[in-house]
Amino acid sequence: MINSNYVPSHVAIIMDGNGRWAEKRFLPRAAGHNAGMKAMKEIVKAASTLGVKHLTVYAFSTENWKRSQEEVGAIFKLLIKYVKSELMELNQNNVKVKVLGDYSAIPEAAKESLEQLLESTKNNTGLQFNIALNYGSRMEIVRAANAINEAISKGIICGPITEDMLSSYLYTGVENGSIPDPELIIRTSGEQRLSNFLLWQCAYTEFFFTDTLWPDFDKDEFERILESFRNRDRRFGGRK
Ligand code: FPP
Repeated sequence: MINSNYVPSHVAIIMDGNGRWAEKRFLPRAAGHNAGMKAMKEIVKAASTLGVKHLTVYAFSTENWKRSQEEVGAIFKLLIKYVKSELMELNQNNVKVKVLGDYSAIPEAAKESLEQLLESTKNNTGLQFNIALNYGSRMEIVRAANAINEAISKGIICGPITEDMLSSYLYTGVENGSIPDPELIIRTSGEQRLSNFLLWQCAYTEFFFTDTLWPDFDKDEFERILESFRNRDRRFGGRK
């Protein structure tokens, strides 16, 4: 598939390196997350303009609770700030926001902001911006398995369990509009691992790793990665 205009329908990003970006500048880690949020805003706009249908970002993993209370608090304060500053523009740009993960566990004020964001953008029809928040892929798969088990035992659905059935019970499934599997996953900051992100969904995803720390990631690099994606030879296990 080499098409000079092709834009992947779903791009997912592991926004890594905020802490190192801050440390290099002798700033607190929260300053790195703040700079990371600015980069995130730029990429949401770029994805929307370029015609990407789904953009998913890993904002907070189920493992991120192990960080200091100060850092966790700073990330959720940023979420509130993000909603305040971006809600109008997201609506102007027709962006629909969804959350992947168990956001019931996040601090109350952040949850209220998030619910306002979801409610206010729910009828938009442009880019779907999926924020993975308190998200972990293994937890997501176990949750789906338990939900299927319950639905079968109540007679709501019948077995056997199929791939499509399991997919439909994931956070990326029916509850969030049946998000297609990501065609491309980008991880910044030089780390080359998935860190419990979209493990089921990335069976045939192309990976792109860049050394750029997330706060330094910009539209130009995003476009260069999309360009390089166009030249990948995707065979999905088949042969040409
Ligand atoms: C990873 O960098 C980044 C995070 C765990 C947080 C990402 C959050 C944002 C980009 C802004 C907040 C946005 C929302 C919607 C809440 P790291 O801290 O692991 O960096 P390091 O590996 O250099 O320490």
